[in-house]
Amino acid sequence: MDEQFTAQVLEDIKRLAVQVGRLQQARLGDTQLKIEKKSTGIDLVTEVDKLSEQMILAFLKERYPDHSVLSEESGLADKSSEYLWIVDPLDGTTNYAQGLPIFAISIALQYRGRTMLGVVYAPVVEQLFSATRGGGAFLNGQRLRVAQKESLRECVLATGFPYDIAEHPVNNLCYFSKFSMKCRAIRRLGAAAYDLACVAAGKFDGFWELNLSPWDVAAGMLLVEEAGGTITHFRADRRISIVAANAAINRQICETIAGIDGHAIG
Ligand code: IPD
Ligand code: CA
Ligand code: CA
Repeated sequence: MDEQFTAQVLEDIKRLAVQVGRLQQARLGDTQLKIEKKSTGIDLVTEVDKLSEQMILAFLKERYPDHSVLSEESGLADKSSEYLWIVDPLDGTTNYAQGLPIFAISIALQYRGRTMLGVVYAPVVEQLFSATRGGGAFLNGQRLRVAQKESLRECVLATGFPYDIAEHPVNNLCYFSKFSMKCRAIRRLGAAAYDLACVAAGKFDGFWELNLSPWDVAAGMLLVEEAGGTITHFRADRRISIVAANAAINRQICETIAGIDGHAIG
């Protein structure tokens, strides 16, 4: 992807995310909001998830008609393109359905399997995170750098729990209790894309989570890497399971997980 194309696409997507964010904010706390259960029964989808996705897909179809798109609620629209958009129209649906203000839009573009560009927008706090491969990560135009802490003890970490927490034995509870005693604090915001963006911005010192989907992490992982952080994959048996932090903290998080799982990772 050449620089000029990347820059133009990034501006498009930033504008789109802000537009979609306006819709989400306008309906936040609406008592008439239509909410449905997804397969497991605790996983929800609201009409705003769907409307947001429609807006994003319509824009991508008009602007980039030949590109493939993978989006959470509609699945894969495969055009056999080298370009693949990965879209989470509303990350943090459980929060949104409760009227809580922590949620974000996440849009990433891959070229030949590599994420080249990512945008995460949290509308209520008007935080627009963006990154391009090799071009750095930014929050509202300010360059980002991951936190520089060296000891896990000093860290505030973020995590989340899979929707199948009650059915699957690898549900993060054992990691969570271990980290609770090893770091300063843990936060569970309920929006993985935003958690990763906050790691990129040094607002969280690290993040780990199991069983995520491509749309939860595609943009956020690029943000972390472009802010100088490291991503490590673990638990290949639980879809996308990652650790994100600066290299020193990433290592300490991985060692803690390895101590529980009984084998090295990373
Ligand atoms: C969820 C959030 C949550 C994470 C879940 C995700 P959704 O995404 O990112 O923090 O723990 O695993 O599925 O359903 O709100 O888009
Ligand atoms: Ca999500
Ligand atoms: Ca979602």
